[in-house]
Formats: sequence, C-alpha cells, structure tokens
Amino acid sequence: MALAELPEWNAFEAAVKESPIQFDQLRLISAAGIELDLSGQSGSLALTQATESLLAARNFDDMRTRLLCGGVANITEDRAAWHTALRTPAPVDVVSAERQRLNEFVRLADSERRWRNIIHIGIGGSDWGVRLAVSAFGYAGTWRRVHFVANIDGHAIQGGLAGFDPHDTLIVLASKSFTTAETLQNGQRALEWLQAAGVEHPYEQFVAITARPDVAKAWGVPDGHTFKLWDWVGGRFSIWSAVSLTTALAVSTDVVAGMQAGAAAMDAHFAQAPIAQNAPIQMAIAGIVNRSVLGYGSLNIAPYDFRLSNLVPYIQQLEMESLGKSVDLAGDPVTVATGPAVWGMPGTDAQHTFFQWLHQGIDGAPVDFIVCEHADHGWPEHHQSLLANCLAQREALLKGKTYEQALAECLASGVPEDKAPWLAKHRVHAGGRPSNLIVLPRLSPYTLGALLALYEHKVFVQGVIWGINPFDQWGVEYGKVLAKGIGAELAGQAKIDPDHDASTAHWVARFGASLKG
Ligand code: F6P
Repeated sequence: MALAELPEWNAFEAAVKESPIQFDQLRLISAAGIELDLSGQSGSLALTQATESLLAARNFDDMRTRLLCGGVANITEDRAAWHTALRTPAPVDVVSAERQRLNEFVRLADSERRWRNIIHIGIGGSDWGVRLAVSAFGYAGTWRRVHFVANIDGHAIQGGLAGFDPHDTLIVLASKSFTTAETLQNGQRALEWLQAAGVEHPYEQFVAITARPDVAKAWGVPDGHTFKLWDWVGGRFSIWSAVSLTTALAVSTDVVAGMQAGAAAMDAHFAQAPIAQNAPIQMAIAGIVNRSVLGYGSLNIAPYDFRLSNLVPYIQQLEMESLGKSVDLAGDPVTVATGPAVWGMPGTDAQHTFFQWLHQGIDGAPVDFIVCEHADHGWPEHHQSLLANCLAQREALLKGKTYEQALAECLASGVPEDKAPWLAKHRVHAGGRPSNLIVLPRLSPYTLGALLALYEHKVFVQGVIWGINPFDQWGVEYGKVLAKGIGAELAGQAKIDPDHDASTAHWVARFGASLKG
C-alpha cells in the first residue's frame, strides 16, 4: 500500500504537527561509543508511539533481519545487501580468507618496505571510503604516498602519475564490476606510464579488487594479485571489503580492522536497541520528519573536524545513490517526498561559505553537526574554539534571534534610533531550524566505523519506511549509455543523432570539430 494511504503514516504526520522542538529537553542516545543528540529535532511521546506503529506497518523487524542475515534486501537485483558480513567479528569463510590475504599482502609489503607510492584508481564507492579513511588517519603524513585517481578527466591521471617513481609504485585498480570506463581508461594510462619508464613486468605492479576476477585476469592482472568483492556488497558499501587495501597500505591494517570493529558494534546496537533508544532508527525518523512532513529539500552535513573533509562526499553517495528514488517497491510513484539532497563541508569553513543561507535563507536545511570531544593535536585553544563554534552555530539555528533582540542589539551598538528598526529587520534569524549533534569521543578507526554504520542503517530504515529500494542504482546507467553514443559522434565514428535536442546537437558538432583540431 502506498505510504500516504497508510493510516499509520497519517497518524505519524499528525503527531509531527504536535511535536515541536523541545528546547528544554535533552534527547541523547549512546551507541557503539558515539553519542547522538536529537534534542534539535521534533519530538514527543505521540511521535514515539506513531513511529512504533509505522515501523510495524512496514514490517521493519523482518526487513532488518533480512538485511543483517544476508537475505534478499535488494529486490530489483534479487540480491542480499550483506555489507555487515564484511565486518562481523566472526565472518563467513570467504570473507575471512580475503581478510587474511589482504593482511598478509600488506605485512609482506611492509616487511620489504615495498611500494613507497600507491596510485588508487577507482570511483564512487571504490574511491570515497578509502579517500576518507586515508585523509582521516594519514592527514599528518604517511611513509607511503597515495594519489587517488577517479575522474576520466585526463588531468586527474596526469596528476596521479606526477612525482612518483614508476619502479616503486603500486597501482590499485578498485572496481566491483571491472567495467567502469573511468577506472579502466585510467588503469591503461598507468600501465603505459610503467611501460614507458622501462618497468620490466608492469602488470606485476597492479592489484585489483573486484567481484569479477575473471575480467581482471583478462585485463592482465596476474593471478594472486586480485582480491575479491561479492555481488551481495553494494559498491557504496565496499569500504568494509578489500577495497580498503590502499587504506591498509597507507595507514595500516589496524585502521581497517578498527573501522570494521566500530561498524560491527553499531550493527549490534541497531539489531538490539529498542526503538526509542535505537540511534539509526531515531536518526532516520528525524530525517523523514524533516524531509517528508516539514518539507526540507536537503540535508547539510557539517563535520567540525578538518580530517573529515571526505566524509561529505562519502555520505552524499551513500544517501543520494540509495534514497534518490521516486518509485516504490511495487513499481508505483512514491506518494511522499523521499531522499533529500545531501551537501556540506567541514566547519568552521562552512561558516564562511554557506551558513548565512542556513541561518537566514528562506528554506534553510537540517544540519548534522559532527564533532570530536577530544582532539589529537597539542593546541587546546584551537579545539576550544572549534567546539564553541560548533555549539554556537547549532544554538543560533535552534533559537534564532527575534526582532526585539535584534533591535536592542542595534541600539546598544549605537545604530541611530531612526535607522535601528529598519536595520533590525535584516538581523532577525528565524530559528527553529532542526539539527543533530553527533559526538565522537575522539576520531579513531572504531568511532569512524561506528559513524559510517550509523548512517548506513539510518538510510536503510528510511528506505523501509519510504517503501523504496536503497540498494540499487538504476539511475546511473542511462547517462553512461548516452555518453557512449555521444562519444562515438564526437570521434566521428557515428553521425550526429537527429533525436538530440538542439543544444546537445550544437555542442556535439562544435566539440567534435575542436577535437579534430
Ligand atoms: O555510480 C555508480 C557506481 O556503480 C557506484 O555505485 C559504484 O560505487 C561506482 O559506480 C563504481 O563502480 P565499480 O566499483 O563497479 O567500478
């Protein structure tokens, strides 16, 4: 049944309307070593009760069991979505075997001080998680130097090859499908770079992480140089797999293991915590309230930690590739707004970029503030300022500033009495703008793993309630097909398609001519 027709949904909507943000209430949930503060979200006993009824109406318990036990959770591709199996303390044999192979590969490379340089070639889920982990834990420098190459833009591979000694460089090809054009073309350039430098056995300097070892072998990756992924792991969930080989080489296998342990702890919390104390569920509900009832079109991610700059694109792919759907499981158009646009950047930079819009823009957006209670540097005054800014921005969004407060402020600062009433109107802040505050005791592999799993399970819960499949991504295929046709036209290998719109036809002709030189 369509969500909007469910009595439990209508009761949920009604409860939201009776559930303002309660400024005098502290709503904290501790889970897997991190804390989720939901005080800045709509809340009430009625909403809690309506949530329980809504989850029951969506068979949540069965859906969660299916997810965590490797049942079919991705119904349009008839697959499991068993990323939790990659991080459980007692994995199935195939997972355990690949984990051991990876650890042995890294141990050997470390013992021989091999591969001073790593070029990680992958895109989307084969890139963002590794980029995030290496920048989170390698920001202060690592013995091995890592270049990430994702984009098909030739400048990306050009930069990726620059400055590295070809004779001491390992090329990591990360691609679940081993068909992604960007990755294969960039891999080919890296191969040519090794060959041009006179590397005797260039393919020996490649490793592949893929669900298609047969295709990797055909490409030239030697036996023993391929680590397996499986179809039951979605690309955007592959950070828990051997895709993290580059992380292990750059910042150690302990970091990979620590992230897996933190994620596993969040899995256990998600499986067992009662609804009212279940962090992923409550974070999911807050997001549905903001998106589908209060009508916010986007979600801002504000990690108040320089080391988490790659957290934003990681969460963007996780949320928008999972929840950017407008057809429900039955194949019918959805009846409520689903997946918000996700955007952001670390604070305090964000305060000097778009917080004006968050405070005084017409719409604003809910914000996920993420902060570490303890820093890993030696300047406490810097951390004090960071914490103060994080809390202050969140309080300003919550409380706002009334006209009376703004007027008093203007007068106190010497604005002439005849001008102050006018100027004060420009300084009013609406307030009542929702936010989460997620507090990590400090940034460790464990807490980062727990944080990422928190978002994964939040996305899953939202998919269940919205009645959409969060594990497929049919929307990424169409553009790739069109790109193939336009590519052939640009290369002069095909006539310009008469079905192009006028603008596309114009630029295909123009760029085709300029490419001919
Ligand atoms: O963006 C589409 C997508 O399939 C992502 O889901 C995936 O993470 C990325 O492309 C890369 O895919 P692959 O790992 O197969 O190269």
